[in-house]
Amino acid sequence: MTKKIKWGVIGSGGIARRRTIPEGIMQSKNAELISVYDINSDVNKAVAKEFNATAAESIDALLNSDIDAVYIASPANMHIEHVKMCAAAKKHILCEKPLGLTVEEAEVIVKVCKEAEVFLGIGLMMRFIEQHQAALKLIQDGKLGKPVFGRAQLSAWYPPIEGAWRQDPSAGGGGSLMDMGSHCIDLLEMYFGKIKSVSCFINNIVHSYKSEDSAVVSLFFENGALATVDSYFCIPDNSSKNVLELYGSKGSIIAKGTIGQGESGEMIAYLEDDVAGYDAQQARTETDGLVINPTPVNAYLAEIDDFSKAILENREPKNNHEVGLISQKIIEACYESAKTGRVIDIKY
Ligand SMILES: NC(=O)c1ccc[n+]([C@@H]2O[C@H](COP(=O)([O-])OP(=O)(O)OC[C@H]3O[C@@H](n4cnc5c(N)ncnc54)[C@H](O)[C@@H]3O)[C@@H](O)[C@H]2O)c1
Repeated sequence: MTKKIKWGVIGSGGIARRRTIPEGIMQSKNAELISVYDINSDVNKAVAKEFNATAAESIDALLNSDIDAVYIASPANMHIEHVKMCAAAKKHILCEKPLGLTVEEAEVIVKVCKEAEVFLGIGLMMRFIEQHQAALKLIQDGKLGKPVFGRAQLSAWYPPIEGAWRQDPSAGGGGSLMDMGSHCIDLLEMYFGKIKSVSCFINNIVHSYKSEDSAVVSLFFENGALATVDSYFCIPDNSSKNVLELYGSKGSIIAKGTIGQGESGEMIAYLEDDVAGYDAQQARTETDGLVINPTPVNAYLAEIDDFSKAILENREPKNNHEVGLISQKIIEACYESAKTGRVIDIKY
């Protein structure tokens, strides 16, 4: 039998219980759930029972169990402490996004993992969505021509909830931008490459909590492409279609609902072999476009599969520390822009 990576989980009661354990760790042929820990011991015991794992009573107990890797899914402000503990115990780490609250924290996180010689992955799992990969292949194959413009949107209705860590920047690092806009920026960076500079507005339009409920970002890529990201906590779920639009000199790729936690949305590519000459009538042909609908892959399963295989093959995970660190740098630059009203250059 091939070796399976033995997993522990810190912060078992949230996304870990909803998605990553049932859809990822339990389904992967390279992974096995051994032990879970959550500060809420009742929840932890229930998760352990649900997935036939051991309920660890402390992080030390979790780290002393027979595990190779830890999935950290605690609130963002706890990531640095939890990464340090896991790295000191020489466990490989898949850390949920964001790596930390700040670039400074993220750099410490990367450093302790390097020093401990453990792999560090980041939970930006939307890269694994098969339609997103198919769009990437079209772009890499030059089918879109020269990248011109992108738009990515992820919003949800998130009313005030007592004690919700995302609603306080000291616990979550920010609001809709940090939480959801980060996925959008990450996808656009996967498509268009390095970002040269950003500008951003944030606001609280509907909710009165400390984190922003609204964010719009403009991105200027090194290859000349432009993009926008919009992320709101104050739009009803059904109103936001989480669109992804990618335009190039030879066409576009337009998607609805592919950005998110589910398996598939709609994606259509409108591509032209040869760009026509200037048409003063600006005539549009009624082409149906090419439906991009590969067999869906569960993004949490793909994430756990890749990280487990990375350990087994002694190679970096696809969404490695650099992906996490770059994401953090861009988000921090966005907040700086929102605060100062300036365009901020990104230092990679
Ligand atoms: N990639 C994704 O699809 C995705 C989706 C949701 C959340 N996330 C990320 O996952 C992380 C957790 O978010 P969530 O939605 O699960 O939050 P959540 O609040 O729903 O769950 C967090 C869990 O951590 C536990 N916890 C809190 N403090 C802890 C501590 N000190 N030690 C151990 N456990 C502790 C809580 O009791 C809770 O069970 C965040 O970093 C978030 O950004 C990622």
